Amino acid sequence: MNEIYLAASILSADFTCLREQIQSAENAGSDWIHIDVMDGHFVPNITMGPIIVEACRRLTTLPLDVHLMIEQPERHIESFANAGADLISIHVEGNPNIHRTLQQIRALGCKPGVVLNPGTPAISITPLIRQIDYVLVMTVNPGFAAQKYITEVTPKIVEIKEFLDHYHSHALIEVDGGINAETISLVVNAGARVIVAGSSIFSHPKGIAEGIKALRQAIH
Ligand code: DX5
Ligand code: ZN
Repeated sequence: MNEIYLAASILSADFTCLREQIQSAENAGSDWIHIDVMDGHFVPNITMGPIIVEACRRLTTLPLDVHLMIEQPERHIESFANAGADLISIHVEGNPNIHRTLQQIRALGCKPGVVLNPGTPAISITPLIRQIDYVLVMTVNPGFAAQKYITEVTPKIVEIKEFLDHYHSHALIEVDGGINAETISLVVNAGARVIVAGSSIFSHPKGIAEGIKALRQAIH
């Protein structure tokens, strides 16, 4: 089976000790660091901006996966690329000139990804397949950590995998929201290769390393 990557989402981290939290995730085998950027408009919550990405860049050499939940992301791509993002994803919802923004991400040396909310159909990726290195499938409505996995999204992951295979695309499928030791096998079996996990890692009762271990064990 293809390797499964874990992307620890720092939305659930303790920001009073971000260095230790990221180091623990890295030491325990997190493959990427996932950073949730929210503007209070595209989603109801407000979180982090380029300053946090820049701080993370100095704390780890792991790929920084920046998930933009903001209106008019094209206005901020350069700031996030300059801050040290490796991958930048934008939502298909509410982005009328999405090809241009994906091209902008690539031109700045980052890997472009598109994100689909739970209510957005799989077919919306087909006009974008040539532009993207990954598809981020939301399995909760974006905005908050620790929400419940929406099971109706599982068949959509399978559908996206079929579209990607049909077009001979090597884009990775990443899944985000409500992933824990119970739900991870559902998304991996459906075709996900990159698994975002926030609360099941950073809020695990036995600590970050145990959280990551539980996720890894649940897929083997
Ligand atoms: C939700 C964010 C997620 C969030 C996931 O809008 O995009 O990345 O951190 O948190 P959990 O893993 O707790 O559902
Ligand atoms: Zn996210």
